[in-house]
Amino acid sequence: MPASAQDKPRAEVMHWWTSGGESAAIKTFADAYEKAGGEWVDTATAGGENSRAATINRMVGGQPPTAAQFNTGRQFDDLVSQGLIRPIEALAEEGGWKKAMPTALVEAASRDGEMYALPINVHGQNWTFYSKTVLEKSGVAELPSTWEAMIPALQKIKEAGFTPLALGGQPWQERALFNAILLQQGGKDLYMRIYRDKDEEAVRSEGFAKAVETYGALRGLVDAGSPGRSWNDTTSLLLRDTAAIQVMGDWVKGEFTNAGKTPSEDYGCTIGLDDTMLMVGGDVFVFPKTEDEAQKKAQDLLVETMISKDAQAAFNLAKGSMPVRNDVDTSAFDACAKKGLELLKSEDSQAPVFEILVSASLAGAVDDVVTQFWNNPSAQPEDVVEGFVNAFEVEG
Ligand code: GAL
Repeated sequence: MPASAQDKPRAEVMHWWTSGGESAAIKTFADAYEKAGGEWVDTATAGGENSRAATINRMVGGQPPTAAQFNTGRQFDDLVSQGLIRPIEALAEEGGWKKAMPTALVEAASRDGEMYALPINVHGQNWTFYSKTVLEKSGVAELPSTWEAMIPALQKIKEAGFTPLALGGQPWQERALFNAILLQQGGKDLYMRIYRDKDEEAVRSEGFAKAVETYGALRGLVDAGSPGRSWNDTTSLLLRDTAAIQVMGDWVKGEFTNAGKTPSEDYGCTIGLDDTMLMVGGDVFVFPKTEDEAQKKAQDLLVETMISKDAQAAFNLAKGSMPVRNDVDTSAFDACAKKGLELLKSEDSQAPVFEILVSASLAGAVDDVVTQFWNNPSAQPEDVVEGFVNAFEVEG
């Protein structure tokens, strides 16, 4: 006899996936959960910061959802220390999927050796997506593989009447661009000394100053519509072939896929500028602690569904990310994803994302420094250096 509505484990899921590609991706989880006998209740809030704030309010206010999205990393530290999140170590043992995941992401989802969040994808955050048409029409034969060569190429694109750099003027996007330049131009060692070690000497180094200079030179290469624009509205500049490049995570690829575009054919993709170092991060779901047996049952079914090989393939194909478990069939994944999967094979060609290395409060402080510099053409590189040094001091 079919399960009645009451018997179906009802799961309210809070997340910030509202763009075309993101909605298509989360729908694959909802469909898989319903197929597994559950009832999915979707609570989507546009913008990561807004969604995380809404989740924290609900949880601290005693009205927790069944599950909520965070970035893989330290954003949910406080909720764990307040005892508001259910550890899922037992489910990981039972499901046996932990060993199929990148160690760095398991550690980023764990506290004191126990998993408190379920990683559901690997997002590369330092991709360069580009319009082949705009490069061609601007007489730029191929995407430059260094920032030194990229700046004059972007100026040439501007002279040809196109938008060189498609950037959404929001602090997290402005910082993502800065971090991609820092990793590409400064190298992994400098990047780690900055964000893992909070090393003042590294902030005062020539390598850091050079990255800030490169970043500063890009301020004049965006369009007038950039300030405040969402990342996905920004991607549409590439989709319409009015802009040359967008430096962003591979969630951008979800928009291209959703628009029926084929990577490497309709548009180009490069990790950083030379396909050598992937900035690895992604998304997790946390499961609020609850005494409600029906909610616990719903959480168990969510974990089982989201981490299943089929759901992992379907979700990540739509999302633009890579499966978090290395035993999923990726033969259907596109040429860009295959480049990312290649770099995931070795820790030497990976660097952890910002959200894994810094606390939520330091992330906010760094965003303030970077966005002030980006939005103030007369700001000097020294302002960024002193800003970082101060932010590290406050973090202590
Ligand atoms: C990131 C998230 C991605 C993506 C993006 C834009 O924080 O990890 O999954 O969707 O935000 O919304």
